Amino acid sequence: MADEAELLKALEAVNGPDGKTPLPRSGAIAGLTVRGDKAYLAIAIDPKRSMELEPMRAAAEAAAKGVRGISSAMVTLTSERPQGSAGAQPPAPPPGPRAQAARAQREIPGIARIIAVASGKGGVGKSTLAANLALGLAAEGWRVGLLDADIYGPSVPRLFNVKGKPELEGRILKPINAYGIAVMSIGFLVEETTAMVWRGPMVMSALTQLLREVAWGERDCLVVDMPPGTGDAQLTLAQNVPLAGAVIVSTPQDLALIDARRGVAMFKQTEVPILGIVENMSYFLCPHCGARTDVFAHGGARHEAERVGVPFLGEVPLDMSIRANSDAGRPVVAAEPDSPQAQAFRAIARKVKASLEGAPARAAPRIVIE
Ligand SMILES: Nc1ncnc2c1ncn2[C@@H]1O[C@H](COP(=O)(O)OP(=O)(O)O)[C@@H](O)[C@H]1O
Ligand SMILES: [Mg+2]
Repeated sequence: MADEAELLKALEAVNGPDGKTPLPRSGAIAGLTVRGDKAYLAIAIDPKRSMELEPMRAAAEAAAKGVRGISSAMVTLTSERPQGSAGAQPPAPPPGPRAQAARAQREIPGIARIIAVASGKGGVGKSTLAANLALGLAAEGWRVGLLDADIYGPSVPRLFNVKGKPELEGRILKPINAYGIAVMSIGFLVEETTAMVWRGPMVMSALTQLLREVAWGERDCLVVDMPPGTGDAQLTLAQNVPLAGAVIVSTPQDLALIDARRGVAMFKQTEVPILGIVENMSYFLCPHCGARTDVFAHGGARHEAERVGVPFLGEVPLDMSIRANSDAGRPVVAAEPDSPQAQAFRAIARKVKASLEGAPARAAPRIVIE
């Protein structure tokens, strides 16, 4: 199956908005996602040039379709990102007008802090972590909400075995209570296939609605399960609400991608602190004897975290009961809170909580992952 890295390689053949820098190095890629055999790419441009840059868009689409394993590609031009970040290694922006804009983001009444759970690609266990992290924070005494904003593959309905639509009170949606946390998912509202083809502005308005038109109530923390990669949803969140931080999930074998895909650069640009990296499916826990086997060369995330100077939050084993409980609609922290599997998530939750409590949201170290 094709992945983001292969797509980026193919896009090297397409010149970016300046007509000469290859697209992946032009700084204009605002979003890149591969799901199954479909590729989604958003290129940030000056809206005044959208006609002129249509051939670039078409060339990118053709290049993406040319990747083995990709049968359809949707490439959109968006204006939803400030220009000026062209160049191979954009330097970290100095805290200037952007930082001030960030501080002007509107809070959500009742919600003390919002954190994003992010990953470079899908299938790494982002939703599993988001759900169990939310439950772990609740086990520590926090009032917690969980927003599943993964428009390309909502997981919360399955993870919590919730079907149907949430109730509406006027314009306001009521979240669903699952194991004491308030959950809301884009999956409650639209068919997955509908959201998949949404263009940027629709993604943004749907996400804004899920943040602001939901009766979240008083919450110490709202955990947001983001779509993989970087794109309109990430931008909306980062620009719209003050994010206290982001947790990055990776598997040992996908670690190299953290580097390459610059998913994290998004948070860097918007000055969102990285709370840390979690290594999921880090080692195998034998269901019979409980012995631990390192299937992949595990520990890469810890190393990577050290290298880029972000905290390492912990390892989660590759484990049958994590998967089985998730599929049965009972995340392991709720189903078997004292099991070693649940303890792994709860230890991560404690670290996240300590880090959120330790420093005022915006004062956490600003991390740059290039
Ligand atoms: N630590 C783990 N051990 C076993 N299975 C896992 C683990 N983490 C995730 N999974 C399984 O892998 C699949 C993908 O996980 P999911 O959380 O949906 O990923 P993402 O949200 O990143 O796409 C799911 O079937 C999930 O149950
Ligand atoms: Mg998911």
